[in-house]
Amino acid sequence: MAKVIISFVCSECGYDSPRFLGKCPECGGWNTLKEFSSKGRLASSRKSLAPAISSSEPKKLSDIFYQEKKRLLTGFSELDMVLGGGIVKGSVTLIAGDPGIGKSTLLLQTAIHLSKTGTILYVSAEESQEQIKLRSIRISSNIPPGLLVLSSTNIDEIIDHITSLSPLLVVVDSIQTVESENMDGLTGSVPQVRYSALQLIQCAKTLNIPVILVGHVTKEGFVAGPMMLSHMVDTVLFLEGDKFMQMRLLRSFKNRFGPVDEVGIFSMGEKGLLQVDSPYVLFSHQTKPVAGSSYVVTIEGTRPFVVEIQSLVVSSKFSLPKRVSSGIDSRRLELLLAVLQKHCKLPLDTMDVFVNVAGGLRISDPASDLGICLVILSSVYNAPLSVIGIAEVGLLGELRVVADLDKRIKEARKRGLTKIISPKTHTTIRDVVSSQFITRKNTYGST
Ligand code: TYD
Ligand code: MG
Repeated sequence: MAKVIISFVCSECGYDSPRFLGKCPECGGWNTLKEFSSKGRLASSRKSLAPAISSSEPKKLSDIFYQEKKRLLTGFSELDMVLGGGIVKGSVTLIAGDPGIGKSTLLLQTAIHLSKTGTILYVSAEESQEQIKLRSIRISSNIPPGLLVLSSTNIDEIIDHITSLSPLLVVVDSIQTVESENMDGLTGSVPQVRYSALQLIQCAKTLNIPVILVGHVTKEGFVAGPMMLSHMVDTVLFLEGDKFMQMRLLRSFKNRFGPVDEVGIFSMGEKGLLQVDSPYVLFSHQTKPVAGSSYVVTIEGTRPFVVEIQSLVVSSKFSLPKRVSSGIDSRRLELLLAVLQKHCKLPLDTMDVFVNVAGGLRISDPASDLGICLVILSSVYNAPLSVIGIAEVGLLGELRVVADLDKRIKEARKRGLTKIISPKTHTTIRDVVSSQFITRKNTYGST
């Protein structure tokens, strides 16, 4: 009979101790260690995990043989790029994101594409086989026979199937919904998630099969479950976006096999996710200059994007005027309004200001400061803009040089935006107002 092992696991961070401790040494939480008994499988899995990834003798680094591994191409060049050139064999990738954002859709599309060349095991612990069939009909009319779907929540059963099938790729949707009878604790609890992840990592490393896990996120936007889940896997990707908008961004937060500064852009359509090769279409709506609309050039990962920003400024009926922003930090907006009020002598304290970024994108790049100021000014003066601003705006109203200015200018020019205001052309926001707005119209046209 398997030996029952008692351990005390922190419900906050997953710290494991053989004896009870009042305070968790890892996260500092009090009374968070709970007793768990496992029937030996976790302990034995830890032991057998070791030989797969470590060797007992130290070796000269120069003597270690390494050959660049061939990667699996997913059918999405955007996903391959974020992964660093495709899926590495034996790697474990975690894809996290809000519910309904498109994680299962992305992975099913990837599984359909790769099943043309071999067996793919798609394990769903959330949906039935019929539900997955329904989704696949929506995505593709031609499903290769190599795609096998397993609807199971039992991790031990899943591991047995992986071992016997030895597929090209395994997808487990999701790590929080699989569980084991060998482990105590509810589904999704720290010990269950940790145990399941360990089993899958061991399997991936020993059999050299890549595994992609779907992970839920907490309200704060972190991967749900033990913090160490992110440390255990090789790659962590986040699929982000506004559920009510088409655009989805795939970002890499950790990657042992590639860069962490690339961003993949997708759009959710009738037939699942489509990669977007020219994102300009998603981020802009105007064909000719309109008052209250302008562009900023933001850098996501290593690529510059031209994004439309809209603003509406109206006189306020409230003693505390409204500042409503979507897609930009509200504190940044407050700061820029204060700069405009002080240095451009605008009575913004008597006006409601609404600012919106097109396409559901979130902009945190300081280089968009001048663009945000320009769009607000455009609405205040009711003046359509033929210029685009690229600069950070300081508290003294000065325009500051931003990173990759030339790269941004080149991208703006490519989109036909040739009149560019930057620290190369103006030194303060006041200069910008005098040259672009005062000469044209002296009255505020917004009200
Ligand atoms: P899903 O992949 O189930 O999200 P997650 O796994 O992250 O929870 O995506 C579900 C959403 O995507 C759902 O609201 C419907 C939408 N969708 C489309 O718009 N088009 C499609 O072709 C598919 C398959 C889903
Ligand atoms: Mg899903």
